[in-house]
Amino acid sequence: MGGGIAQVAAAVGATVFLYDLVPGAAVKARQRIEDSLRRAETKGYVTATVRERTLKGLRPIECMDEARGVAVVVEAVREELSVKQAVFQELEKKTQPETSLWTNTSMISITEIARPMRHPERLVGVHFFNPVPRMELVEIIAGERTSEATLVTAEASVRHWGKTPVRAPDRPGFIVNRLLDALLREALALHEEGVSHMEIDTAVRLGLNFPMGPMELMDLVGLDTIQDCLKSQAAGMKRPVDCGTDLPRLVAEGKFGKKSGEGFYTYET
Ligand code: 3HC
Repeated sequence: MGGGIAQVAAAVGATVFLYDLVPGAAVKARQRIEDSLRRAETKGYVTATVRERTLKGLRPIECMDEARGVAVVVEAVREELSVKQAVFQELEKKTQPETSLWTNTSMISITEIARPMRHPERLVGVHFFNPVPRMELVEIIAGERTSEATLVTAEASVRHWGKTPVRAPDRPGFIVNRLLDALLREALALHEEGVSHMEIDTAVRLGLNFPMGPMELMDLVGLDTIQDCLKSQAAGMKRPVDCGTDLPRLVAEGKFGKKSGEGFYTYET
């Protein structure tokens, strides 16, 4: 997700610093974006000029201090409240007071992420969808203490990046993932009952006119991320976790979907 967000920002001319705790991961992310842009150019989605401008703007860094002074920081770390809280407590110290802080959380409360912050008015939820260059929607979520200025800046920025913002409530799953959660849980239940992943996907594609079925969508987003989302949604709605056994088994086996080469489907590298 982080790579996709960086790509759309750089495509309109922004300088984007890519940072990851794992050494070398930011350089790899830039390489993945370069490969994806080449494919997109072949398909006619982007021009050579846009590809070159995007790549020129992407700067992998190994130390967060190199990005001091940026206008916006977009966080896309894993879906765990304590991890996100720690990231923003550090970011508050490492950035200028006027820097907007965005979390791309899929469903964690913005109010909760901001709770330990000294300046929670700087934090806003800015939720992108996979694959980011292709999906037009961005949900904008205000926490209890997010300032109107932070919200308006986020909306204007994502519009500038070619996206359409909608304001979503700070409730578990916001709008889209709350609806998606119901679909995915039922798809997983059908799979447990013995219906094949291909039958489920074909049925949803042809019967509901969705561009892809729920099983391939889970593979696209990442089964580890989906598992985190289902758990976090259940916790937020105060009901038991309902992931079945197939999903946790695949995640435990390191089969995360498209990004690892295998999930419900198998992918060629
Ligand atoms: N600029 C750059 N790259 C572009 C581009 C553009 N304007 N337009 C497309 N591309 C790239 C894509 O990023 C992708 O790159 P890749 O080669 O690296 O995979 C490639 O072109 C595929 O795009 P296509 O349009 O050719 O592919 P399809 O027509 O087969 O459509 C799809 C694929 C867009 C994934 C379609 O099946 C779809 O819309 N599926 C549903 C997706 C969905 O529901 N997403 C939401 C997931 S939920 C979520 O993300 C929330 C999270 O919190 C869990």
